[in-house]
Amino acid sequence: MTTVHLGAKTWVFLNSKRVVAEIIAKRGSATNTRSPMPVSSGIVSHDRRSLLMPQDKWAEPRRVMHSLLSGTALQQYGEWQETESTQMMAEYVLKPRAWYRHHYRYANSVVHRIAFGERLIKSTKELEDMQNCVTFFVGSIGTSVIDWFPDLDRLPKFLQVWRYYWKPLGDWNYDVYRSWWDPIRKKVDAGKAGPSFVRDSLLHPETKYTGNDENAMYVALQLIEAGSDTTREALNIFVMAALEHPDVFLKARAEVDRVCGVGKDARLPRLSDMEQLNYICAMAKELLRWRPIFVLTPDHTASKDIEFEGYVFPEGTGFVINEVPVGAECERPDDFWPERWMDGHETDIAHGLWQFGGGRRICVGYRLAQRSLFINIARLVQCVDFRPAGFYNPKVLNLEATDEPFPVQVTIRSKEYEELIFQEATAAEVLEDAKLVRDNIKL
Ligand code: HEM
Repeated sequence: MTTVHLGAKTWVFLNSKRVVAEIIAKRGSATNTRSPMPVSSGIVSHDRRSLLMPQDKWAEPRRVMHSLLSGTALQQYGEWQETESTQMMAEYVLKPRAWYRHHYRYANSVVHRIAFGERLIKSTKELEDMQNCVTFFVGSIGTSVIDWFPDLDRLPKFLQVWRYYWKPLGDWNYDVYRSWWDPIRKKVDAGKAGPSFVRDSLLHPETKYTGNDENAMYVALQLIEAGSDTTREALNIFVMAALEHPDVFLKARAEVDRVCGVGKDARLPRLSDMEQLNYICAMAKELLRWRPIFVLTPDHTASKDIEFEGYVFPEGTGFVINEVPVGAECERPDDFWPERWMDGHETDIAHGLWQFGGGRRICVGYRLAQRSLFINIARLVQCVDFRPAGFYNPKVLNLEATDEPFPVQVTIRSKEYEELIFQEATAAEVLEDAKLVRDNIKL
């Protein structure tokens, strides 16, 4: 553990799996609040993003979101994950050079459907605005000195000069959310919405959600923003792993071939194949360990004094998972080596891996994320060949990039696999949508 004093805050970086498990998981009931962030949580998020809420405010939105982790939700949303993935595969065939754009569309589309129950039909401008909401929100965390000295928030409002800087961002974010939320809210109220998280959990009378319309809007839209970029980035990391470790890639392909057939006899993998495709599941875990999306997780703050192995951490101490040393605490840490996860817990992506945070605050979408990664990795290793197409630095992933993050040559394994993808895309009625995507991408 390393103690860091930043502004008025004390953070303890947790640098090993053992201390993470002790503090974040075992003592989770006393380490699940957040420290005050008057700018990124207050002004930018109107105090309504559950991610940064203190425990007392967070409990209610978390209760509603919890349904996302249930078997029923996974079953229902799994169908959509498969369909969107089938479309993604067709896009790969039709426009291989835009591989990273297909990841982006998949990730956005699937989480939009889970949240709102409809396929994503938004203009480029609307998508850009949503992407910017995430980027600017994440960029606001830790940027303002006020969040490091939260007591300054007690000053009279007219003295809080920083408000003039941050308020326009919070208000703009609010307006973007509104423009996505109002149409779906109207459909749900009119009984015209399809099944979705919003209709069947958040706004369902039986759920008895106590938040008002604005709170509900932030719950729904936060879900979309939290689920999109993360999934897209993880799929890009998979492609990097395919370039860097062709041996692992071929081993994974052999596993899929064994279960799903080869050539003319092949079918695309499905979510129901998960138990037989343990190596693919292990790859999903390994890619998040190998190139973590989050280097630090948001602090889990002590809600009371905690004693641990002779140390006393006063109430208010923030515990941060230091993902790089934690992920490197293993044999051959620099290698992409899925075998390390072949321990009987392959299908549980949060077992032994801290990329989704942990304890009571654990990512509420982690099971959905696991299934998205599984289905797409399985299909990509089966049908697509990835080769480097120029110089790149394998340690720099360019995760934020929306253009090609590193140069890749993408080819489909053979004509038979092209046909297989087209057949399945036709059966799932997404081939025409994939063609539209192809026509709209100018590359
Ligand atoms: C590779 C993919 C993903 C990663 C690495 C990831 C990681 C995280 C992390 C680290 C947290 C904070 C946990 C903590 O404080 O301990 C979090 C929270 C959250 N994630 Fe994810 N996530 C991913 C995918 C998703 C998906 C697909 C969804 C939605 C379907 C989602 C929705 C959320 C939400 C709503 C929260 C806030 C939960 C709360 O306030 O209680 N995430 N995620």
